[in-house]
Amino acid sequence: MSKIIKVKARQVFDSRGNPTIEAEVFIKNDSAKAICPSGASTGTYEAFEKRDYKNKKYFGKSVLGAIKLINLKISKKLKGESIHNQEKIDSIMINLDGTRQKMKLGANSILAVSMAVKKISAKQKKIPLYKSFLVKKNFKLPYPLMNIINGGAHANNGLRIQEFMIRPDSAKSFTDAMRICFLVIKNLSKLIKNKRLSTSVGDEGGFAPMISNNKQALELIVLAIKKSGFINGKDVSICLDVAANELFKKNKYSIHSKNFLSVDKTINEYKKMIRKYKIKSIEDPFAENDWIAWNKLMKSVNKVQIVGDDLYVTNLERLKKGFLNISSNAILIKLNQIGTVSETLEVIKFAQIIGFKTVISHRSGDSEDTFIADLAVGTNSNQIKTGSLARSERVAKYNQLLRIEEELGKKARMNKIH
Ligand code: PGA
Ligand code: ZN
Repeated sequence: MSKIIKVKARQVFDSRGNPTIEAEVFIKNDSAKAICPSGASTGTYEAFEKRDYKNKKYFGKSVLGAIKLINLKISKKLKGESIHNQEKIDSIMINLDGTRQKMKLGANSILAVSMAVKKISAKQKKIPLYKSFLVKKNFKLPYPLMNIINGGAHANNGLRIQEFMIRPDSAKSFTDAMRICFLVIKNLSKLIKNKRLSTSVGDEGGFAPMISNNKQALELIVLAIKKSGFINGKDVSICLDVAANELFKKNKYSIHSKNFLSVDKTINEYKKMIRKYKIKSIEDPFAENDWIAWNKLMKSVNKVQIVGDDLYVTNLERLKKGFLNISSNAILIKLNQIGTVSETLEVIKFAQIIGFKTVISHRSGDSEDTFIADLAVGTNSNQIKTGSLARSERVAKYNQLLRIEEELGKKARMNKIH
């Protein structure tokens, strides 16, 4: 009953309209499927995303080659394996690939299969997916980091910082968290309209008004928080993802304006921003290889969450290096940066042992798959970053968390941020 009969993959489309992989794992009388997401501001050290780069039929973006590999090679190798042995299945695929960055099969092929295996295993055991990860009881809901203004590679408005987010710190439940974010977003929408700017949204569902100045975006959010009856920095906190890889040239950064500044000057600007706008979390404040800058920032700020995304790429070796270097106090977790469920869980476990906060994340190109909502609860992760209250591929994750909260009933608790 619990043996894999076959794996079948198909080409489907992601939220940006780009081809991506859906894998379906079959056992006797049942199957489960999973869709792989795709990033835009990717780190150099991420596992490889296999596409038909030379095939111009889909501008080089199709994944037909990867699908063939799943249907022919991976399916054959996994036939007869137990769906409950996730680690073995993942290691079979890792070995079949045989490269450090999953260059042969592609992390997208491997991950789609890996997630589908996890799903069919939970389904066959008749347990909800969130109960199949690390935590077995006392489940906690993550705080949402809602990306309400999009810039950088996720919009074409010229805003330098990629993501301006809010975190409803005073929420007592996930339902409450959603209501707080809802109010701020609706008020922000009104403020943007009053300025005669567009309320159309970027790739992650946040507004993408034609403003190109970080301060303007921050002022708008501060006002929206106030108009909603909340205190900035207490009830609701502003959090940023700078995605500084994109703003780095010759050891200098153009984060705060078009001018490129030294690391020390950039840190000074960060400090002013943190003080003025009560910013509680900054992701990727510096580039992926600038370990010294990360450490300098850690030494010069207090009580601010510093999150490594492109820095760590959900990779255990890089996380260990960052820990020794005192580079951050939190890690962003993206399954497709590393390529299997088992390796992702290993990174989360290690991060939690060393006292890092874990933030489970979507990708800017995502889908209706809600795997990460369950992963956040099932790993006791403090926060989840999955866009704004717009675009169904983003909202789907929030809706799944609402369902999980309902199912947990009186036992449901929010996680701890501080
Ligand atoms: P990406 O962006 O999915 O485009 O990489 C998300 C992020 O940088 O956190
Ligand atoms: Zn990021």
